[in-house]
Amino acid sequence: MEPMIQMTGVHKEFKVVNRREGVRGSILDLFSRDYQILHAVNNVTLNIMPGEMVGYLGPNGAGKSTTIKMMTGILEPTSGEILVNKRVPYKNRTRNAQDIGVVFGQRTQLWWALPVIESFKILKEIYRIPDLEYKDNLEYYDALVGAGSLYHKTVREMSLGQRTLCDILAAFLHNPGVVFMDEPTIGLDVSMKGKIRQLVGSLNERKGTTVILTTHDMGDVDALCKRIVIIDKGKMIYDNDIEHLQQYFGAYRTMKIQFCRKTEELENKVLEKQAKEVEKWLLEKFPLAKSTAVSVEDKWIQILLNEDEIRMMQAVNCIQDNRRIMDMNLQEITTESVIRKIYEGEAG
Ligand SMILES: Nc1ncnc2c1ncn2[C@@H]1O[C@H](COP(=O)(O)OP(=O)(O)OP(=O)(O)O)[C@@H](O)[C@H]1O
Ligand SMILES: [Mg+2]
Repeated sequence: MEPMIQMTGVHKEFKVVNRREGVRGSILDLFSRDYQILHAVNNVTLNIMPGEMVGYLGPNGAGKSTTIKMMTGILEPTSGEILVNKRVPYKNRTRNAQDIGVVFGQRTQLWWALPVIESFKILKEIYRIPDLEYKDNLEYYDALVGAGSLYHKTVREMSLGQRTLCDILAAFLHNPGVVFMDEPTIGLDVSMKGKIRQLVGSLNERKGTTVILTTHDMGDVDALCKRIVIIDKGKMIYDNDIEHLQQYFGAYRTMKIQFCRKTEELENKVLEKQAKEVEKWLLEKFPLAKSTAVSVEDKWIQILLNEDEIRMMQAVNCIQDNRRIMDMNLQEITTESVIRKIYEGEAG
């Protein structure tokens, strides 16, 4: 089977001007410009097979959206090759649109003032969707998420969640081979996120659509993606199954501690202060344990550490030297905490 998406040594550079300050600076900028090259995407090689659902993750500014823009043909790579469904995305974009669906969390591709069903009819014309296929999709959408009750609302009248739902339905309407989603669940409440995850999962399964998903919500990833790719400062730092991530960062452990019996009644402010102190004690005694991070989670002080740098027991003893620990529990490292760590730029 041929890959749906093939990226080979892809780079994207942006030339950014180092602007000088003030009016004088702007005038100087007109004559001599001081440029800097920013490597937004740096040598990414990636094959994605038909039907795969891949989580494309990384901290703010990592290069996720830039990659997606290259895959959809909005941007041309500086060097390297991209093929989507065996075609070069930025050449002949009209033809390529037939293969591609997009959902951008903060923008809609639907017509604001029209009832959704009218937008769908326009898309049917644009993409020349056969009558039967179109009818079949609408029926399926209604059975799946009760979309029928939304068809006659205008986008303007919709809640963010309803609009996102319709945007996703629209992206799949012409049965494209691949759908790109950039932060589809941003700003949605828990129940709507659940509904959207279920919808995307069902559509992927029924249609065998390849899905590339960027998100900052690990819940989306856990629910939908078997494989994840992590990019940081333009470079790919991980490409494997989600389960392997924990092995990859296997030396990380978390423990939770409390200093008082009635910690539940303490204000978060007090706990934050305790967490800061714990971090100070640990870093003073183990200055080389740079991965150590202390935070407050659900009224517990949570300590993430890397056992290659500091043993759990050493940390416990160090804390006990300063203050008596009342309650403690050790935890398996979660994917979420590993990713958060990467997002904070301290691991990887
Ligand atoms: N058109 C552009 N011109 C100059 N620099 C750009 C341009 N587009 C993106 N960049 C820069 O490229 C880098 C990657 O940006 P990108 O939008 O791909 O990040 P991202 O991973 O999508 O981040 P986020 O999670 O915040 O959405 C950033 O440093 C950004 O400032
Ligand atoms: Mg982005």
